[in-house]
Amino acid sequence: MMKLIAGNWKMNLTPSQTSEYIKAFLPLVEGIEDREVLLCPPFTSLCVAQEALKGSRVKLGAQNCHYEERGAFTGEVSLDMLKELGVSYVIVGHSERRWLFGEPDELINKKITACLHKGIRPILCVGEKLEEREAGLTFKVIETQIRLALSGIEEYTDKIDIAYEPVWAIGSGNPASPEDAQLVHAFIKELLSQINPRHEGKTRVLYGGSVNTSNAGSFMAMRDIDGLLVGGASLNPETFSQIVKCF
Ligand code: 13P
Repeated sequence: MMKLIAGNWKMNLTPSQTSEYIKAFLPLVEGIEDREVLLCPPFTSLCVAQEALKGSRVKLGAQNCHYEERGAFTGEVSLDMLKELGVSYVIVGHSERRWLFGEPDELINKKITACLHKGIRPILCVGEKLEEREAGLTFKVIETQIRLALSGIEEYTDKIDIAYEPVWAIGSGNPASPEDAQLVHAFIKELLSQINPRHEGKTRVLYGGSVNTSNAGSFMAMRDIDGLLVGGASLNPETFSQIVKCF
């Protein structure tokens, strides 16, 4: 599997800012073929992004989805709607969804299941809070989140990617050390082989949390870090292109 460098724009950039961004970004990453590059703009920018990305290798992802195909779910967006806009990845279970919007593990499990049915590759986000880390619970928390997210769909471990995003590292300017992240990534890969005895190792485990141009390369140098999920530093096309090229 190619390494994956993904930008999660969160609630940033309007449609016109999105087309400006992509116009500036594409020439900066032109010719890069040995890694996957993914942009995850807000829903409102997907349409312009799809248009602007035509003919490029940069992929389009969404930040959330609903698990039902359609119906009375005010404010929600289905996977069919996203697919028609060229979306091939969806971020599921981001810590902001879990902790600001109260998404429980069962909901995350339904969303992952729906993505698999629709042929969209979910990026499952997991990560411990600061008090959990301090209590020595990091591995336990990660294991529980992954087991619950994959409950009933254990045989599909190769069809998802996972982002390890320690909650305390997100937007804090205080990233995990590459060595600490490496330990968790190795643990996640071992866990996937336990969950699915036929796991082939196609799941990429990305690191996310205060990634920037100066630390990106040291994360990518770690054996089990297969990519990055970048928030704040993905909002500027020049900066994000440097992160894409950090290894
Ligand atoms: P920051 O890169 O802004 O810390 O955000 C990380 C993140 O949450 C990506 O999904």
